[in-house]
Amino acid sequence: MSKIIGGLTSSHIPSVGSAYARELFEDPYWKPFFSAFPPIHQWLGEKKPDVAIVIYNDHGLNFFLDKMPTFAIGAAFEYENQDEGWGIPTIGKFKGYPEMSWHIINEVMAEEFDVTTCQEMAVDHGFSVPSQLFWGKPDEALVKFIPVCINTVQHPIPTPLRCYKFGQAIGRAVASFQTDEKVVIVGTGGLSHQLDGTRAGFINKKFDLMCMEKIVDDPEYLAHLTTHELVREAGAQGAEFILWLAMRGALQGRVTKLLESYHIPISNTGAGTMLLENV
Ligand code: DHB
Ligand code: FE
Repeated sequence: MSKIIGGLTSSHIPSVGSAYARELFEDPYWKPFFSAFPPIHQWLGEKKPDVAIVIYNDHGLNFFLDKMPTFAIGAAFEYENQDEGWGIPTIGKFKGYPEMSWHIINEVMAEEFDVTTCQEMAVDHGFSVPSQLFWGKPDEALVKFIPVCINTVQHPIPTPLRCYKFGQAIGRAVASFQTDEKVVIVGTGGLSHQLDGTRAGFINKKFDLMCMEKIVDDPEYLAHLTTHELVREAGAQGAEFILWLAMRGALQGRVTKLLESYHIPISNTGAGTMLLENV
């Protein structure tokens, strides 16, 4: 049976994609952000996972406000990142894993999570930035990818608790997949940020650090925040934290925190990077 061996988190700020493409890893402005990743690369190199389930939100590339699924799972053979500006070079296609995708889809549907199934899916920065940070360019990546998209953009968005439970269902689905593969689950986005309106630029470091602490040992506390509380404390786009809760739900039970990094001065967002290992 397959096994989720750990969870990763990363912000998916588009300017990181630009810095990544320009290889600004040692640049003084970017170094505090990128320095969190070598220890994670080392862990991935030792554990050698076969599959990455990447929980992200689409920002208008594959879905738009006119049609916005709450939960969507990719079941394609490959996933392409399409141009979002910044003059970033084309990066090729991420390899999919339709067999495991369909298993997860079947299992979560049986648990009454009515997901949209995507046999074609363009993936935006929400997916491609963290995937590259962890696994490099798509053709270098040693994992097969399963994109799981949750609406954080068009209200009503699913509650933190619903996303936590959705993650738990994904975790159970992986555990009943017939191969002996190792799976890593990624929660992307966040932490606090608000990109528009009168609170544009809003960041709440205290709340972010509390989330990074509680996601380890007390995710239920965070899962019981209301959407309004989350938006008030983390900003309108900080609601992307529900993606982290889905990741944590999939880990089930106890985890060990192997790495944590928090860095603000990039773009408009508190960027949290974590490596959690399943006990
Ligand atoms: C930024 C953050 C996001 O999560 C996003 O989707 C777009 C932009 C930012 O901080 O600039
Ligand atoms: Fe975002």
